[in-house]
Amino acid sequence: MSPVLRTALFGTAVGLALMAGPALAATIKVGVIAPFSGPFATAGQTFKQAIEVYQAQHGKTVGGDTIEFVFKDLDQANPAQSKALAQELIVKEKVGYLAGFFFTPDALAVAPLIDEAKIPCVIFNAATSAITEKSPLYVRTSFTLWQASVPLAEYVHKQGVKKVITAVSDYGPGIDGETAFKTTFEKAGGQVVDSIRMPLKSTDFAPFMQRIKDSGAEAIYAFLPAGPTTLAFAKAFNDTGLKAAGIKFFGPGDITQEPDLPALGDAALGIVTSFHYSQAHDSAMNKAFVAKHKELFGSTQTVTFTSVGAYDGTHLIYKMVEATGGKSDGVKAVEAVKNLSWESPRGPLKLDPASRTVIQTMYIRETVRSGDGLINKEIAAIPDQPDYGYKGAK
Ligand code: PHB
Repeated sequence: MSPVLRTALFGTAVGLALMAGPALAATIKVGVIAPFSGPFATAGQTFKQAIEVYQAQHGKTVGGDTIEFVFKDLDQANPAQSKALAQELIVKEKVGYLAGFFFTPDALAVAPLIDEAKIPCVIFNAATSAITEKSPLYVRTSFTLWQASVPLAEYVHKQGVKKVITAVSDYGPGIDGETAFKTTFEKAGGQVVDSIRMPLKSTDFAPFMQRIKDSGAEAIYAFLPAGPTTLAFAKAFNDTGLKAAGIKFFGPGDITQEPDLPALGDAALGIVTSFHYSQAHDSAMNKAFVAKHKELFGSTQTVTFTSVGAYDGTHLIYKMVEATGGKSDGVKAVEAVKNLSWESPRGPLKLDPASRTVIQTMYIRETVRSGDGLINKEIAAIPDQPDYGYKGAK
């Protein structure tokens, strides 16, 4: 290009930029509601760390606008408090996006608010299928219990297991998991001999272990929210002799989430789970993701499924901001990411335009010893799993 032409083109570009007026750089706020204190504080920590990893890799601005995260602590499933915090974020903080949500009831509670304010809500974890049916402004980058449990039931049946007992926390995701497993396992020809629903706040699992023992089942399918709940349940299974009695243990991977593996120790060995993310997933992108955690926080102990839920959720937020040029148009933002495909540390993802939950690979994993610690070793991959529980999809 000749210097004269280059100068002319440059002049035109400057002129156009001036005509458009100076770029108005804005700060776009994202309100994140999650447990940052109490028994489930690790979940909030994983969200926050994953956001920081994403921003360290991709910067804090999109098209000149700065993305700022505002965190609100909700220590337990408490829908009234969730709604109050969301209201405060929308009205006082003027957030353009809501995100986070570890527990289903907390995610469900904000549906009327996001509809009224027309802001997208990016679910980093809550996994009951029905949530995204309650507002077109929900998008979900985690998983659903249907998505994890359908392939698991098929796998368990193929292992020659005939009689299973289910044990779940008695609320949305637990009931979804129980229904998905039972429906699929029985359609394949297996039998669910008993279904136990445990209060969400249970801490003493010994009576349930007795019922499992007495049921004559060869195997158990269990779901509880990841944290002290899953830890106590898996320990009780071991300590009351069910594992020694040869009862096999299956479930979604919440039960062997990475932060709890050191405390679970040998009790976790041999548990077979289906899930969307293992820290041990072998891909270049996952290695970079885990390495960045190590660099920023000095440890990889907390890198788990809730980390990728938040990491990919942050990616969606960046894409929505990009598509709306930083303007607040929640409907347009969600419309822009429906059908979006991208690569995640967990593998390939696509946002399903109907359920607005990611379509993804479900991995069957076994918890095994590796070096000094335990890992969730992927033993099979079942690609392109949708949310089987969305509306009539089941
Ligand atoms: C949920 O409440 O939807 C939930 C909580 C914890 C999990 C999975 C699902 O580990």
